[in-house]
Parts: sequence; structure tokens; C-alpha cells
Amino acid sequence: MRLGILGSGSGSNMQAILDAIDAGTLDAEIVLVLSDRPDAYILERARERGIATGLIDCRGFRTKFPDEAQAETAKALQQAGVDLICLAGFLRLVKQPLLEAFPNRILNIHPALLPAFPGLDAWVQALEAGVSETGCTVHYVDAGMDTGPAILQAKVPVLPDDTPESLHARIQEQEHRIYPEAIRLVQESLSTAS
Ligand code: GRF
Repeated sequence: MRLGILGSGSGSNMQAILDAIDAGTLDAEIVLVLSDRPDAYILERARERGIATGLIDCRGFRTKFPDEAQAETAKALQQAGVDLICLAGFLRLVKQPLLEAFPNRILNIHPALLPAFPGLDAWVQALEAGVSETGCTVHYVDAGMDTGPAILQAKVPVLPDDTPESLHARIQEQEHRIYPEAIRLVQESLSTAS
């Protein structure tokens, strides 16, 4: 399975996917890593591994993912022969035409137990809401914000002395465990379907 990764940040989830591939627990290859931020560490990690990288030109928009940029992204991923797209800390909302080009083949990892706390800084939202438990979700991407069907979730307790940083760090440990596992599940379901 050929994976394409979109990320805007540190890329620790991509690293977890690479580690699973190295450990032989995930039969896949990351063939292209794209980012909307030239200084994102995810690009550095990819280059160190010799993985092809590219920049998404969002035409100067700070948060929007303009249609032209989505079409260019779809084309680059198709040309690289990508089977499945994994969003890994990608901070823009994916819509048509990227969704149309990869129907049911885009996954995202979100740092909360969806449908609770969609959107940004979900661990801060969980702390502010005073819940005793949060977690993370790998889900299919649809046109909504963090609304697609869930594939796997992991729970994380909120501890009395948690700070946003400590809680996010514990959620990320679980993200790194379930993202490769969810990709494996999707791979299985695709091979059964074909
Ligand atoms: C993760 O917490 C993920 O849930 C969210 O963005 C963060 C990305 O972290 N969507 P990283 O770039 O994979 O380290």
C-alpha cells in the first residue's frame, strides 16, 4: 500500500507509521509527504528518510485550503501512485476536489474521542470541559470538520494535575499506537473489497 502524508507540524504520527513499517507490523510505503508549511519538521523527517516531499501552495491564505491547491495536491498524490492519504497534523480542511479524487481513502488522526471536541486544540477543550476521560480517534475524512466515520479510538484519562502539555503528550502516545493499526484495518478492508 502506497501512502501519501499531509502534515503541517512535527510529524510524530508519520514517524510512528514509519516505525511500524520498519518493525514489519505494517506492510506499506510512504511515497510522498506534502506540507503547507515550508518549515514543518515533518518535511525534514521525510527528507532524512529519502522520501519525496513537496510544498502545497495555499496562495497566501492562512487557514483556507483553496480549490486550486487541493486540485494540485490530488494530482501530485495521483502521480505518485498513492493508494491512501493520511492526514497527520494537517491544519487545513480537506474538501472537494481532493475528496473526490480519493473517495474513502483519506484518514485523519484527531486528539479527542470524536464526536466530542472536534476542531483545534481538542485536549485544551477537554481540560476546559472538565471531563475525566478523553483520547484520540482515527477516522475517514469527509467534507465536515472531524466528522467522518471512526475507524479506531483509544481512551486517555484526564489526571487532576494535567496541563495541556502533559495531557497532549499522553494522547500522542496513544495516537502513535492506533494510527498504524487503523491503516492496517483499512488495508484489510480494501483487500477484502477488491
Ligand atoms: C496530533 O495531536 C494530531 O492528533 C493532530 O495534530 C497533532 C499532530 O502531531 N491532528 P504530529 O505532527 O503528528 O506530531
